[in-house]
Amino acid sequence: MKKAILLVLILLQLSPIFSQQRGQNFGLGNKEFLLNGKPYLIRAAELHYPRIPREYWEHRIQLSKAMGMNTICIYLFWNLHEQQPDVYDFSGQNDVAEFVRLVQKNGMYCIVRPGPYVCAEWDMGGLPWWLLKKKDVQVRSLADPYFVDRTKKFLAAAGKQLAPYQIQNGGNIIMVQVENEYASFGSDQAYMETVRDAVIEAGFDKVQLFRCDWSSNFNKYKLDGVATTLNFGAGSNIDNQFKSFQEIYPTSPLMCSEYWTGWFDHWGKPHETRSVNSFIGSLKDMMDRRISFSLYMAHGGTSFGQWGGANAPPYSAMATSYDYNAPIGEQGNITEKFWAVRNLLKNYLNEGEVLSEVPAEKAVIGIPTFELKEAAALFENLPAPKKVERIQPMEDFDQGWGRILYRTTIQPSAAKRKIVITELHDWATVFLYGKAIGKLDRRRGDNTVEIPILKEPTRLDILVEATGRVNYGKAIIDRKGITEKVEIVDGDRNIELKNWEVYNFPVDYSFQKKARFTTKAANGPAWYRGTFQLQETGDTFLDVSTWGKGMVWLNGHNLGRFWKIGPQQTLFVPGVWLKKGNNELVILDLEEPLGRTVKGLKQPILDKINPDASLAHRKAGQNLDLSKETAVATGEFPSGDGWKDVVFEQTATGRYFCFEALSAQGSNDPLTTVAEMELIGLDGKPISALKWKVVYADSEETTASNSSADKVFDQQESTFWQSQSSGAKPAHPHQFVLDLGESTVLKGFRYLPRSDKKTAGMVKGYRIFLKATPFKL
Ligand code: GLA
Ligand code: CA
Repeated sequence: MKKAILLVLILLQLSPIFSQQRGQNFGLGNKEFLLNGKPYLIRAAELHYPRIPREYWEHRIQLSKAMGMNTICIYLFWNLHEQQPDVYDFSGQNDVAEFVRLVQKNGMYCIVRPGPYVCAEWDMGGLPWWLLKKKDVQVRSLADPYFVDRTKKFLAAAGKQLAPYQIQNGGNIIMVQVENEYASFGSDQAYMETVRDAVIEAGFDKVQLFRCDWSSNFNKYKLDGVATTLNFGAGSNIDNQFKSFQEIYPTSPLMCSEYWTGWFDHWGKPHETRSVNSFIGSLKDMMDRRISFSLYMAHGGTSFGQWGGANAPPYSAMATSYDYNAPIGEQGNITEKFWAVRNLLKNYLNEGEVLSEVPAEKAVIGIPTFELKEAAALFENLPAPKKVERIQPMEDFDQGWGRILYRTTIQPSAAKRKIVITELHDWATVFLYGKAIGKLDRRRGDNTVEIPILKEPTRLDILVEATGRVNYGKAIIDRKGITEKVEIVDGDRNIELKNWEVYNFPVDYSFQKKARFTTKAANGPAWYRGTFQLQETGDTFLDVSTWGKGMVWLNGHNLGRFWKIGPQQTLFVPGVWLKKGNNELVILDLEEPLGRTVKGLKQPILDKINPDASLAHRKAGQNLDLSKETAVATGEFPSGDGWKDVVFEQTATGRYFCFEALSAQGSNDPLTTVAEMELIGLDGKPISALKWKVVYADSEETTASNSSADKVFDQQESTFWQSQSSGAKPAHPHQFVLDLGESTVLKGFRYLPRSDKKTAGMVKGYRIFLKATPFKL
């Protein structure tokens, strides 16, 4: 009996008449999206609800609408909602259903991208860290049933929240995305089919599904019943971007599902910007061709707390600010790009649409300098230790984020020895009897500290900070702390250090609060605490430029990480987290601050790096000498965009790879630009870049823009290496040298020129060298 009722219900749901009564519909027509049967151009703004304090959600939605958008596009962040297995939190700041309702209240549609993987410069690309407790876990793959099972459970939870808001049910969700840019990770169609089916199973069974990829890789797999959209950046050549897409899907609507308005910042690298002109130019090209788009990001906001991710290789963590050089600034402020978008889009509205009024910006306040008078030394505030024989990563101790201290005893020896760590994730200070003897930085691949002669058993402490899990590419399994072992190297003897005491320092405010603060001076890593009074609240930017490296809690809210190397020197404080009267600030600094003061500024400082010469790829006095070397390939690339494949006459073997650019396409410009370089192995496929390191680049632009030589293998087609472009440009030839990490057999290589509309520095003449031993520098 019950089954019969269910069947009738299901049939009713499927009947078009019924669905029209309940809601509207949205789907694919001939080269157009159709809203209730009429052509509809999507103009979407990507916003991330955890990067915006809840109190400001509606403000940012209204700003997006006033910029000319009719849709808001969101990711869901699995690791935010399921911080422990099976414990789901969709409340308060995590109440994504409320966010979607606010979008609808403001007369806008919604595109939902539930993952499971989202990338987004977010810790582990949105995957929960506790997956890493399984030693052999595999992600974004059918190879691990555990991952698939957890994915299905999360998607089901997401469906419970949001499936009721599908447009066919009377809600505003017009499309739902399956996975995220999967082709830049793999090509297993069955995996994508499984995720697609899980999304449908989760209740997204009426809405139009889509997947997003790049123009260079979208055809690596197909997904029936799912639309395809492309992602690319400001200033792209639109016709080129959609060329092969239109050949393969001649009747599909065109959409750029992530049109990158700017880019994200890495610690220690210049603030990223994309010019208004190049950004608006390609947006206009899309409008003229009736191509739907979503601005990634319309407003980036802030990666509060521990949520910022990292890229690798080489490992490079994301700054806390996710301003993104987007049209709406980190504070919800209106920028020049905002007005440029609004002015453009007013000419391209769909039938019946009008531009809404621009809401007022939020008030900003300054806060006079105040001192953090109290301190609590980390070593005097150790939590209870756990004892283990062999070292283990943070996740094994049920710790997701923060800092971890490993302690053991080293036996005396008359010889000088070294400590070698495999692998350090991500930044550490090494102490002998409480005295710092070395700092190690994963960005540089540091793993060794020299130790002096020790006359007696000596306490060794390794304090490791996790600075964001890799959120992109194959290095995404990124356990924190020390992942494998610590050895003491005595001549040619390697002895593993054992019997560790492990101290966990999680990021929760409730933990920091326990530190015993005093007004005594503190040495070494410490918490600092101060209070300040306010008569009026408002947004502000906390100037932490005199502090070293760590994290900040304001009235219990985790504002995020800071690091003196920049580029950001301020942290965004939403006014709604401040109080009239007394406010409390706690800073954990792993280095010693230059001054124990802080002030609130009305403007952020997002672009002040303290350059770190040790990250440059050419040391003083180095000159690459190729005069005695024999090239394995010499040639000229054809002009134009897109990947250029070169097959060597004979296979070549070696560990050190040198690319030399001899000239530029179509001009005498001395500049060289390379977006990506792939090396092709014997099986005809690109070899893994996980072990690569840049050992030399004759010239790289690292001040005017973030264009260092490692951009040639960051697997981002929109970023590129360029020789110095500001000031006096050095002449050809330009070279970079890679250490591939092991001897490698190559059949050839592929070069991708820059993909923006500019052509400067595209390489024409080249030479390739491959050697077993390092090049002479
Ligand atoms: C890709 C991803 C996004 C984001 C951007 C870069 O397009 O899909 O999540 O990581 O790159 O900001
Ligand atoms: Ca790149």
